[in-house]
Amino acid sequence: MNVLGIETSCDETAAAVVKDGREILSNVVLSQIDAHREFGGVVPEVAARSHIEAVLPVIQKSLSKAKIGWNEVDAIAVSNRPGLLGSLLIGVLTAKTLALIKQKPLYGVDHVIAHTYANWLEHEPPQFPLLSLTVSGGHTQLMLYTTHDTYKVLGKTRDDAVGEAFDKVAKVLGLPYPGGPSIAKAATSGDAFAYAFPEAKLGNTLEFSFSGLKTAVLRHLQALVGQDYTFPSTQIASQLTQAQINDTAASFQYAAVQTLVSKTLKAYNEFQPKSVALAGGVAANQLLRTELAKALPVELLCPSTVLCTDNAAMVATLGFFEAQKKRAISPLEIEALPTKT
Ligand code: KG4
Ligand code: ZN
Repeated sequence: MNVLGIETSCDETAAAVVKDGREILSNVVLSQIDAHREFGGVVPEVAARSHIEAVLPVIQKSLSKAKIGWNEVDAIAVSNRPGLLGSLLIGVLTAKTLALIKQKPLYGVDHVIAHTYANWLEHEPPQFPLLSLTVSGGHTQLMLYTTHDTYKVLGKTRDDAVGEAFDKVAKVLGLPYPGGPSIAKAATSGDAFAYAFPEAKLGNTLEFSFSGLKTAVLRHLQALVGQDYTFPSTQIASQLTQAQINDTAASFQYAAVQTLVSKTLKAYNEFQPKSVALAGGVAANQLLRTELAKALPVELLCPSTVLCTDNAAMVATLGFFEAQKKRAISPLEIEALPTKT
């Protein structure tokens, strides 16, 4: 069964064709990073306009790369939740129109869950019960799946997502957008133990919080340049030495990774899952992958970098499993749901 996946929930316009939920026939991702770079973050209006321009050519390219025509597309899956409303709408409107015109079953899938399903694409499928940690620009979430259909959220962030913290800290340090890869790069020349940043414990829960860490980094940088908490974050970077930037990046990354590892380990000990999977844009972080793999007694499943960040192959895969449950949605009923998970 060939599923065409469509992904437009944030700032990547993507389409992919996946066979039987396992085999990638094509995976086309058009990143809007250049359009947002000058603003230092995703501008929702710019993202939605870019999706309008890109979505049909990207879908066309995914079909031609897969070497298939519409008659060989068995279903369409689209991320319809959660995400930026304007961005989601473009994918949803495109998918429902194509489903109607081409007479294909349509599946609306959850973007955060789709990230985890990238783990079905490159190695042996995860076994249930599956513990998954999804870490991205919008989400930080531990989930336990007992079947494809039965899952629960064990804990998520109370405030910022970890990727958001990477992006904001990078901005204060004057590092280019997107912040995650920039921090990781600067950190390779820095000392992770130069500065000690606090870890939000949040009692005995599996919840996360990253806003305190973000503020701690800001206060540390203000002090480093001899200023108090009123000093504007936009004026700090120009007063920092390269060593201070690298050490702060390394120490921040270390603190963020420690939190993610300790909560995941706590969840592992509590639920004793058969598999553990990492997913989402921040899963591309090498320190996180290494530290988590070291801490866990089972093998850590992790997608390759292109399947960690937003893509449509993960959407098509989840669409395939939805199709097994025969849960097609009427094109006239599908909605874009920005906050629903
Ligand atoms: O999953 P994704 O592409 O989009 C969302 O659904 O949010 O994740 C994007 C996030 C951004 O915050 C980006 O800075 C972060 O993933 N990211 C990284 C790395 N590569 C991307 N964070 C840390 N280290 C990386 N190597
Ligand atoms: Zn994502």
